[in-house]
Amino acid sequence: MKMLLLSSSVYGHVNTICEAMRPCLKQQGFELVEADFSDAPPDPKDFDAVLIGASIRNGKHNPAVISFIERYAESLSQRPSGFFSVNLVARKPHKNKPETNPYVRKFLENSPWQPDRVGVFGGQLNYRRYRRMDRWVIRFIMWMNKGPTDLDTNADFTNWDAVEEFAQDFARFAREQRQ
Ligand SMILES: Cc1cc2nc3c(=O)[nH]c(=O)nc-3n(C[C@H](O)[C@H](O)[C@H](O)COP(=O)(O)O)c2cc1C
Repeated sequence: MKMLLLSSSVYGHVNTICEAMRPCLKQQGFELVEADFSDAPPDPKDFDAVLIGASIRNGKHNPAVISFIERYAESLSQRPSGFFSVNLVARKPHKNKPETNPYVRKFLENSPWQPDRVGVFGGQLNYRRYRRMDRWVIRFIMWMNKGPTDLDTNADFTNWDAVEEFAQDFARFAREQRQ
């Protein structure tokens, strides 16, 4: 069984989350094909299951992710599929579920594809890593929603147990559907 694991990341945190998911996905017998959105990603029709992860930047998921989903909505809907979003609003306990996270809610409202499994994870905040403009933008966003604004902040808001749980649940579900 082949699974397509697609990631959209700006500073690498979504990729680190995918890395943490890898053993759980493989454990259920999936061969993983990993890709990002820099080139044309593979067509979902060649896979038994598809999982897409994307971070939020300036209030939005990468437009390339949305275009991909619009283009392949039918094919995505015809196989076990999952989606997860990574953002800093999800660091707040009352905004870390698909039903309570504003970005995921908006995504699901507008998406022609309704994934079988949806996850949302808190992201990373490391001001020193960002390009100057990005640093000021995210610092302003943090100031607006009462997050850390100290430029020495290097914080990881990801619940790694929840990441593993999500991957295990999705892989188990996908395997059961394909058997
Ligand atoms: C320039 C910039 C803009 C961001 N905008 C938002 C935002 O609007 N809302 C939010 O919740 N998180 C925002 N984030 C936080 C990211 O979603 C978080 O850092 C995530 O871990 C990034 O993952 P990535 O490195 O894989 O792209 C932003 C981060 C950066 C650097």
